[in-house]
Amino acid sequence: MSGSLATVSYIGATILFILCLGGLSNQETSRRGNLYGMIGMTIAVLATVFGPQVTVAGLPWIIASMVVGSAIGIYLARVVQMTQMPELVAFMHSMVGLAAMLVGYANYIDPVTSFHLIDGKNIPLSEAERAIHEIEIYVGVLIGAITFSGSVIAFGKLSARISGKPVLLPGRHLLNLAGLLIVIYFGYAFLHATTVAQGMTPIVVMTVIALLFGIHMVMAIGGADMPVVVSMLNSYSGWAAAATGFMLSNDLLIVVGALVGSSGAILSYIMCNAMNRNFLSVIAGGFGSDGGTPAPKGDGTVVPAGEVTPILAAETAELLREAKSVIIVPGYGMAVAQAQHTVYEITKYLREKGVNVRFGIHPVAGRMPGHMNVLLAEAKVPYDIVFEMDELNEDFPTTDVSMIIGANDIVNPAAQDDPTSPIAGMPVLEVWKAKTSIVMKRSMASGYAGVDNPLFYKENNRMLFGDAKKMLDEVLTALKT
Ligand code: TAP
Repeated sequence: MSGSLATVSYIGATILFILCLGGLSNQETSRRGNLYGMIGMTIAVLATVFGPQVTVAGLPWIIASMVVGSAIGIYLARVVQMTQMPELVAFMHSMVGLAAMLVGYANYIDPVTSFHLIDGKNIPLSEAERAIHEIEIYVGVLIGAITFSGSVIAFGKLSARISGKPVLLPGRHLLNLAGLLIVIYFGYAFLHATTVAQGMTPIVVMTVIALLFGIHMVMAIGGADMPVVVSMLNSYSGWAAAATGFMLSNDLLIVVGALVGSSGAILSYIMCNAMNRNFLSVIAGGFGSDGGTPAPKGDGTVVPAGEVTPILAAETAELLREAKSVIIVPGYGMAVAQAQHTVYEITKYLREKGVNVRFGIHPVAGRMPGHMNVLLAEAKVPYDIVFEMDELNEDFPTTDVSMIIGANDIVNPAAQDDPTSPIAGMPVLEVWKAKTSIVMKRSMASGYAGVDNPLFYKENNRMLFGDAKKMLDEVLTALKT
């Protein structure tokens, strides 16, 4: 493929990526957005593999690794459960970080990158070009290492292999500051090294510090603030890709990396707003570390912090049948139970009977941005009855039944009433203001943030204990008979 055809393909792919992002901003256009992204990525990969930067001798290596990578990707995509998607995303971010690190080292070690190839001759880089090239490498490895280790820890926390509780080292801010100063000092030493061997010590020391910083940063984040970290690592992975683009002189990678980096940064900002958090304080870590009433754990064998009123599926069906308006609030448990299709069946039935059924979606419900929207779209719930938290919160006092399906933290009144709670200040869906609220979950266990939920003990609240899918099936059967 000629250089100009590759450039045209890159421009086409860039436009498709921008259209993809535009499409993903809305549920109705998100499928189209995904399609644009897939076509853009196919063009980008083909234009790169068959473009002027790849020699014929390199092709078998690239194709072989693509076959292996695609096989792993297809296998993972086929076996991954919807509930494991967040950790898969964190794993992918870590791979982008690792790639940036490895490309940085390869670029530094490879003598070819110290020359321009002009008319078949190797012309050494000028002093300024060399400095810029080394800064690209240093910064690329730095961002890559932070993204890699931070994402590995995020993967561990999201898959519950590592505790969600924040780990706070004494003097952590000073430690971070010391790390930053050491990275700057060794950056200076790296730029002034005259040989690759001399530059190795500074870059290796910086890599170790960046890896430790990534671990420290994510370990210090409290449970309820993980959404911000996930979107922040998403942003970092974009900047790591852009840094790789600079190192490889690949314009498309720079543009795509910048698109991912900036959209991830905007998402982090939106997440912070949704959680009523200051972005910098979330990064500094420590939210969710203390305060709040401890949650009664697990299987109901521990004495709960109050009296709850259980309800049966048949009684739930009765309440729903008599209601004029119902707001359904889905949470992580709906994803675990894969209850979205039954939720849709119940919604359809009630709407046919003239009940005004709407869905209230909290920005951090589930375990990844848009988690609930994806599930509801999959179950074909009409978009026009799915509302964001702010659009519905005022309507709870005039609602007959609020039905909370596998949600916990996002409907916890302690966020408003208990200033010592780890989730204090986080906006929540005010489900308890409905005439009756019904919480569907299996036990009295806490949610992701690990705090007790006073909603369960309110007088107008009922607990429908059991797996959400099983209980909703029973409710649907009771409704129909
Ligand atoms: P959670 O607060 O985690 O509560 C989920 C509840 O679902 C649990 O209390 C659990 O109780 C119940 N559950 C689990 N499996 C169930 C099943 N099969 N049937 C019925 N119930 C089941 O979820 P949420 O309310 O959606 O809040 C999300 C939380 O995750 C927030 O703290 C948020 O900060 C955090 N988080 C979000 C994200 C993003 S980006 N959305 C990323 C990371 C973390 P039982 O065990 O008693 O059933």
